[in-house]
Amino acid sequence: MENLDYYNAAINERPNIYKRVIHVLTFNTRRLLKRRFFIALVFFLIIFQFLTMFQTYSVIITNIKYKTRNYLYNHGWLPCSLRKEPILYMIDTQKLMAVWETNCILDNVRIQWYEKSIDNEINRSDILEPIEIDNSHYVYKGIIGPITSNGYYEFEIIHSLYTKIISSYFQFFPSIPDDPNSTYPIQIIAFADNQFGLSVFNRLVQSASQKTSPNFIIHAGDGVQEYNNLQQWQTDFYDPLANYKLTKHAPIIYAHGNHDFDPKNLYNYTTDTSWYSLTIANTRWIVLDSNIDDINQDLWLSNELSSPETQNKDFKIVIVHIPPFMEFWDPIAWNEKKEKHWGEFVRTRFAPLFNKYGVDLVISGHQHNYQRGQSNGTVYTIIGGAGGELDFDRVEDWSIYNVVRKTHHYISIEIWSDKIIWKAYNLEGFIIDSFELRKGS
Ligand SMILES: *[C@@H]1O[C@H](CO)[C@@H](O)[C@H](O)[C@H]1NC(C)=O
Ligand SMILES: *[C@@H]1O[C@H](CO)[C@@H](O)[C@H](O)[C@H]1NC(C)=O
Ligand SMILES: *[C@@H]1O[C@H](CO)[C@@H](O)[C@H](O)[C@H]1NC(C)=O
Ligand SMILES: *[C@@H]1O[C@H](CO)[C@@H](O)[C@H](O)[C@H]1NC(C)=O
Repeated sequence: MENLDYYNAAINERPNIYKRVIHVLTFNTRRLLKRRFFIALVFFLIIFQFLTMFQTYSVIITNIKYKTRNYLYNHGWLPCSLRKEPILYMIDTQKLMAVWETNCILDNVRIQWYEKSIDNEINRSDILEPIEIDNSHYVYKGIIGPITSNGYYEFEIIHSLYTKIISSYFQFFPSIPDDPNSTYPIQIIAFADNQFGLSVFNRLVQSASQKTSPNFIIHAGDGVQEYNNLQQWQTDFYDPLANYKLTKHAPIIYAHGNHDFDPKNLYNYTTDTSWYSLTIANTRWIVLDSNIDDINQDLWLSNELSSPETQNKDFKIVIVHIPPFMEFWDPIAWNEKKEKHWGEFVRTRFAPLFNKYGVDLVISGHQHNYQRGQSNGTVYTIIGGAGGELDFDRVEDWSIYNVVRKTHHYISIEIWSDKIIWKAYNLEGFIIDSFELRKGS
């Protein structure tokens, strides 16, 4: 009995012991957690501070690196070499134009290319003559193609007999693939309006290149702030793209903006085609020039949109620098300086054609923020956030946009056989908008 009483007492006692233990435990844990939390917070803040400092410093150091290098090249203090690594510009479905620059004249420069799996068949350009801008800028342009079948292509820039200057490879899709599962998704990074915002553009290119290794790049215009400024083409455009290797394997589809428009149509550093179209697998891309108010462009566009080449494709996408429907701009410039009339024909004459021929997606820049909306079955996007100062002031309301993000950003586009997946990222790499475009919707 005694034992049992003791036992019962012990049982009765247990909860109290537990309570105490639990109490002590939670009390200590709480205090401990509080302290840990505090230490973690301080630690996190220090790390965060360090990282932001580091990022800022690394961007500053990178900018200084570009500018120093440019200075040394301009003053003839560097040996004969590539001051601009090649950028590949898409010019049509089967051809690319490689553009690069040296600080010297080289003998017998050519570009050659071959399908990687058939390495005995090398096609080579004629000898290329440089465009001499001054005694430290010699621009070379070489056409690769026509390439008629899908695959991986290696290209090499050579001089004298076979001295290789640089080589790289890219994947090309001039026709609809036999095996959709091994081809799709085709990855694309898109941006516009980096212009004078070099620090932002550096971070953007770095972030985009870490996220994916794209097959193509879309640039919807204003790659530099001043078209005639040689330094900007070097440090604000070619250098960041080469430094983070974004364009090494990814040809650019470029649409000229108002800041990189050449009325003489020389275009030393970009493609010299104003409006053009091309096919990538199942998608037709139509690039327009919002600088040129010319009825010939309208005629070309109607013809192009109604053609079987366009109508047979799963997706029809237009790239044009000035958006048909703009809503944000500097109000004084918009109204008093009449900048609302810039490229107005894109809205009044081109947009009705987009409706008529069922364009799926329109991609524009010009306005420095992000917008997305839909009207009459066409999705309109504005992606002018690659570095230029942001636009915060509303100047119009077209009632077609339902997403507005006033932040710097870039876009990732995945082309699939039956859908397009679109994601907009801010500079920290977070998604700020996304949508899916289904075939035939
Ligand atoms: C090389 O040129 C030949 C003849 O023009 C052409 O048939 C072939 O497809 C080309 N190959 C490549 C890889 O461009
Ligand atoms: C592609 O993949 C899907 C799903 O895995 C499969 O059903 C389809 O048959 C594949 N298509 C081809 C052409 O291999
Ligand atoms: C382009 O090259 C020509 C030389 O052919 C030169 O006169 C012109 O200034 C250059 N333009 C730019 C913007 O570099
Ligand atoms: C959509 O279609 C209607 C009717 O045809 C037209 O009035 C309107 O302007 C179109 N909207 C856009 C954004 O093109």
